[in-house]
Amino acid sequence: MYSRDHWKSKLGFILAAVGSAVGLGNIWKFPYVVGKNGGSAFIAIYLACVILVGIPILIVEIYLGKKSQLNPVGAFRFFQKGKVPFSLIGYAGVLCGIIILSYYSVITGWICHYLMLSFRGFSGSETEISEIFTALNANPWLNIAWHTFVMAAVMMILAKGVRKGIEAASKILMPMLGVLLLVLVCYSLTLDGMKEAWRFLTYPDFSRVTGSSFLEALGTSFFTLSLGMGAMITYGSYLKGEVNITKSAVQIASIDTLIAFLSGIVIFPIVFTNNLEPSAGPGLIFKTLPVLFSKMPGGHIVSIAFFALVLFAAITSAISLLEVATSFMVDEYKCSRTKAVLIMGTVIWLLGILSAVSYWNVAGTPFLDLFDKIASCYMLPLGGLCSALVFGWAISKKQKYSEIGSKPINKILLFAAKYISPVLLLLVFIKEIGLF
Ligand code: PHE
Repeated sequence: MYSRDHWKSKLGFILAAVGSAVGLGNIWKFPYVVGKNGGSAFIAIYLACVILVGIPILIVEIYLGKKSQLNPVGAFRFFQKGKVPFSLIGYAGVLCGIIILSYYSVITGWICHYLMLSFRGFSGSETEISEIFTALNANPWLNIAWHTFVMAAVMMILAKGVRKGIEAASKILMPMLGVLLLVLVCYSLTLDGMKEAWRFLTYPDFSRVTGSSFLEALGTSFFTLSLGMGAMITYGSYLKGEVNITKSAVQIASIDTLIAFLSGIVIFPIVFTNNLEPSAGPGLIFKTLPVLFSKMPGGHIVSIAFFALVLFAAITSAISLLEVATSFMVDEYKCSRTKAVLIMGTVIWLLGILSAVSYWNVAGTPFLDLFDKIASCYMLPLGGLCSALVFGWAISKKQKYSEIGSKPINKILLFAAKYISPVLLLLVFIKEIGLF
């Protein structure tokens, strides 16, 4: 008889959930959206989004998983009322995880490539160094090779199970990530640009905040907290017994936000010391930073530490993305975990080839960008919205209080999950489909 694997400890769950949350979104995307939107003014808006939407939806997802003890498809079916097939939300989540991991793995492959190059050290002129990225992009075989390597590593970890695979890997990788980040923060504190970076991160420049900054803040907070596609439902389903869901959600969101902020502290002083624009765009970590590493004293070591940090963050997020599809296969088709990992891993690997071959595109948009747009701009906010609606309107207060508690703070958060989060998510969604 199949019995569900569970986390060994609460700490194991928190580390795995933080591992899922902390990823490319924090280290790569966050600093550059902050740069683009006026520094700390944007950070204030971002914090409001985390509190008003991030934490409430995190509570919703953990609750749905823990209560049903099922994958996202099963979980939504579990709460079904009437004829509307709630399980469709779960299917969309599984699909979204498949799409995100297919390109996330390709980007993680680039990081592996840069980590390898860091051991040799970056040297040469500015153009030569930024050419490395162009050359990597133009080489489909190299991209496919790294993508294969990343997928194989993630599959091997997942095949070991929830406790021995996900939890064990998170318990090793997350503390290492923490140490590397602190070392890099200390290094950045010694740079001349630190003063300017600190000013940038703490003095708000509201003139650069636009209407779309609000939506960008909400979208970014959603992506970095791994919400809207069932990752936290899946991780919640491996919880049992007494768990303070609100406290866990606050802890996960706080650590995720702290790490995003610290990544800014690492990146901005390097950028300011070298007189660059803080909003250098997504090319920042692959084109700009390596040039700076090649000029900085001790840059060799800093670059190894930096790419190792990004790699650990990306791997633990990739693990959670594949786990959604795996738990779906195991629960719904009663197949063994190894078989589920093999089937879903192979499907994602095949789909990822589309993103790995950078010159394949749809009407001029490369697959990688297309998939990112579909998943993070449309599917995640829509998934979050549907989860909030199911939670808010199809589950009784009594049921919610019995699991989450009825202290005033819980009541406030449940109110936010029922009314505030859906409205804000609806706005993001309408904006994304171009209705205003
Ligand atoms: N939270 C991850 C990041 O910040 C991305 C992610 C999204 C992971 C959705 C799982 C689910 O990079």
